[in-house]
Amino acid sequence: MAPEIDLRGVRVLPGHLDADAQVRMLADLRAVARAAPFVRPVTRRGPMSVRTTSAGRLGWVTDRRGYRYEARHPETGAPWPPIPESVLAVWRAVSGVEVDPDSCLVNLYREGAKMGMHQDRDEGDFGYPVVSISLGDEALFRVGSVERGGRTASIWLRSGDVAVMGGAARLVHHGIDRVREGSSTLLEGGGRINVTLRVVR
Ligand code: SIN
Ligand code: FE2
Repeated sequence: MAPEIDLRGVRVLPGHLDADAQVRMLADLRAVARAAPFVRPVTRRGPMSVRTTSAGRLGWVTDRRGYRYEARHPETGAPWPPIPESVLAVWRAVSGVEVDPDSCLVNLYREGAKMGMHQDRDEGDFGYPVVSISLGDEALFRVGSVERGGRTASIWLRSGDVAVMGGAARLVHHGIDRVREGSSTLLEGGGRINVTLRVVR
């Protein structure tokens, strides 16, 4: 495991998951997506370029009414599948808190998908960190400040890297500028998966 990186207060743990662990987690996430299929979420501003699904008690959903956490899949109406143990293990290793996450958002980036600068602020207690896991193609991750605008810093997140947004960096603006297609062979059909773990309450 390479040394930890401090990206404007966001802790990046390069290579936290080795190749075998990445393959196992991907299999677990495929099972999640069979139970809770990926959807193409729509916001007030239009469709997002990523596809999303969730595991855990609460899933993050968005539609023309806005963003929120819901206990059921927006299309199937079924409760979300449980968060896989392989994913919980990462949270337990890096979050520094005793409470397990109640939401696991899975973002699928296929060709050209990206994520605009935003804050994660739909949760009830910002004392808990956000933990994010990267699988598949490399992605250019940009981190700004708690306030909008101003300076930013970027890093390429690679498959197996983990990022922790906590403490003073819990509410920093962040986004994915682009994904480097073909930089990993982990995902069949290419692309990238990001797993975001949060305590919503
Ligand atoms: C997000 O912040 O919602 C996603 C971050 C990522 O894909 O790495
Ligand atoms: Fe985010």
